[in-house]
Amino acid sequence: MDNTESITLKDTLLPRVEAIVSRDVTQSEKLFAICELLADEVEHFDWVGFYIADKEVPNQLVLGPFVGPPTNHTTIPYGKGICGQVALSHSTYVSQDVHAEENYLSCSPSVQSEIVVPILKNGNFVAQIDIDSNIKHSISDAKKELLEEICTLLSNEF
Ligand code: SME
Repeated sequence: MDNTESITLKDTLLPRVEAIVSRDVTQSEKLFAICELLADEVEHFDWVGFYIADKEVPNQLVLGPFVGPPTNHTTIPYGKGICGQVALSHSTYVSQDVHAEENYLSCSPSVQSEIVVPILKNGNFVAQIDIDSNIKHSISDAKKELLEEICTLLSNEF
């Protein structure tokens, strides 16, 4: 792992995420501000969004705040695509080449790699961060660690 990248990304961005989380605004406003921060500051984060466990339809994800091109996938059943798989596995999924995936939902032909990180509250799945990149093999360990720490911070927001 590249420790320098890891320390720099976390040192720079985690305090800014904490500041967003502590704002006196709605959950959606906080999540959108985090999308903007990540899309602006992290290289090759070309689509950044949240999918949230649907409160009305069981075993379904619903699209939350996002930054990037619009997607047709505004709801996703658990199990379908990378997002749906993470809703069941509760584990981070990294695809360095989405064209090699068997269970994948395409948002845009330009997407090449993707990471999905679950947000758990008291061991239950509540939401996830989904990041698309237009470059293959662009999801470094440092980026994965940053996102996992952000998801831990966000657990209290659900
Ligand atoms: N690619 C995802 C679908 C969501 S879009 O990338 C925004 C998947 O396979 O679940």
